[in-house]
Amino acid sequence: MHELYTVLAEYYDTIYGERVERVKGEIDFVEEIFREDAEREIKRVLDLACGTGVPTLELAMRGYEVVGLDLHEEMLTVAKEKAKVRGLNVRFIQGDALDINFENEFDAVTMFFSSITYFNDSVIQQLFNSVKSALRPGGVFVADFPCGFYGGSNGPTVWDEKKGDERLIITDWREVEPAFQKLHFKRLVQIIKPDRSIRAVFVDDELNIYTPREMRLLAEKYFSEVRIYGNMHRGLKPKEGRYWLVAIKRP
Ligand SMILES: C[S@@+](CC[C@H](N)C(=O)[O-])C[C@H]1O[C@@H](n2cnc3c(N)ncnc32)[C@H](O)[C@@H]1O
Repeated sequence: MHELYTVLAEYYDTIYGERVERVKGEIDFVEEIFREDAEREIKRVLDLACGTGVPTLELAMRGYEVVGLDLHEEMLTVAKEKAKVRGLNVRFIQGDALDINFENEFDAVTMFFSSITYFNDSVIQQLFNSVKSALRPGGVFVADFPCGFYGGSNGPTVWDEKKGDERLIITDWREVEPAFQKLHFKRLVQIIKPDRSIRAVFVDDELNIYTPREMRLLAEKYFSEVRIYGNMHRGLKPKEGRYWLVAIKRP
């Protein structure tokens, strides 16, 4: 469980190389949400489940005061090293997003790249409650999550990446349990060393599938205003591959 964030943490940015390239566009969109949806100026941001800091550091580069929190120390080690190399001052905290205990400290809380789907519908309420406490009045919670029922193939999808003199062969597939709205995200990462020896790591994570309506209804119990946007635009079309939850804590 969670091998992607422990033994594979140092390979995370390589595995998601394409997404790393896309993150500037994601943060452009999030800044639009900060400007148009939040009801206060956004200066201080808590990035929950920050991982290796891909979005966290982009926010910091743009001048936000950012705190990143993640369950896995291995991910934070990578994030801290990148912050050091880039000369960015970001506070990283190891912890469970469910146990956060902040009161009125942040203008925005973010949770990127499907991290919110690690939380099932009973614990997600605890998460919403803690996020609401962490936010200042007028602040906004932003989290993106995938459409679990999209019509594409369940895989396998295979691609390769390079990290230094190592080559990675990544094979992904997924199994959906529609009755339980669970997505089993499976991945085999084969790391080919320069001497052609191979190290293989298997990832098998269980994620929760939320429809936009379910996410909105759950969040509405905690936030005065909840909007679900499609991918990278402040609207919703019938066939979106990804959704963005935008929940506002009214002053
Ligand atoms: C798909 S990664 C996303 C990382 C980062 N947000 C990004 O956009 O690249 C999911 C992250 O959620 C973290 N995570 C999973 N469960 C968590 C929890 N209960 N509390 C905090 N972080 C958690 C994992 O350690 C991992 O770094």
